[in-house]
Amino acid sequence: MTEAAEGRETAGRGVRESEGAAAEATGEVGGMPERLRAYPEERPAAEVLDWAIRAFQPRIALASSFGAEDVVLIDMWWRADREVRVFTLDTGRLPEETYEVMDRIRERYAIAIASYFPERAAVEVLERERGFYSFRRSVADRKHCCGIRKVEPLGRALAGLEAWVTGLRREQAETRSAVQQVERDPALGGILKVNPLADWTTEDVWRYVRTHDVPYNRLHDRGYPSIGCAPCTRAVLPGEDLRAGRWCWERPQTKECGLHPVPGKGA
Ligand code: ADX
Ligand code: SF4
Repeated sequence: MTEAAEGRETAGRGVRESEGAAAEATGEVGGMPERLRAYPEERPAAEVLDWAIRAFQPRIALASSFGAEDVVLIDMWWRADREVRVFTLDTGRLPEETYEVMDRIRERYAIAIASYFPERAAVEVLERERGFYSFRRSVADRKHCCGIRKVEPLGRALAGLEAWVTGLRREQAETRSAVQQVERDPALGGILKVNPLADWTTEDVWRYVRTHDVPYNRLHDRGYPSIGCAPCTRAVLPGEDLRAGRWCWERPQTKECGLHPVPGKGA
């Protein structure tokens, strides 16, 4: 755990509903009042993750795209509990470097990675009817592709879970500036969403990676701060923001794929 992130002063925020209205941690939230009461405030990342693992294991999993944040969380989870439960949404369009880091992580921590593929028939219809680069035509086309390749598989990955963990950080984008460490996700049936790194900076993330020698995606060394599907991700130019390379033809306000709906704006 980095000193900077561990030592940061954090305001008590409690469990938040993604829809906006604050839900008090002392109330009936998501049908799990006792456990939510146990975690009322924003805390250092390792503490939040440890709390979530103890409260929800085995009905909790980390959603990992194997970006820098997610490998940090895998390492952090492994230090707290060797039963690291991690899934990835293998869209079928990921860069080669992402598969490489997945394999390095599997070996380093001796963990299984549950990969979820999109529905075969849906991808076949998509490609036959709209071609192989439909996502470049419009935001609606892009969201359609993300819906098939990411959102539907996410629903299957979360089935039966009480909580999921993500690498979301406020600093990543304007669409993420209100992310809380512990949220309820109404878009996904009220499941608890745990974002231990919500207040971390990019420097915090890389300090952790280097301190613990965590395997990371080689694309990060080639100008990719944020990595998604290969055809929808490019390196950023000096001075560009962290997610400028994601769906670079779109405006920042639309750059969410449906995994993390922005309150009041749908997916
Ligand atoms: S995205 O919504 O634009 O793709 P981003 O790449 O910033 O999101 O990742 C944010 C978080 O969403 C990650 O830390 C991870 O928890 C989750 N996530 C994103 N893509 C995937 C994926 N392919 N598989 C599993 N989790 C993912
Ligand atoms: Fe499709 Fe691009 Fe979304 Fe990947 S990121 S699911 S290729 S639109």
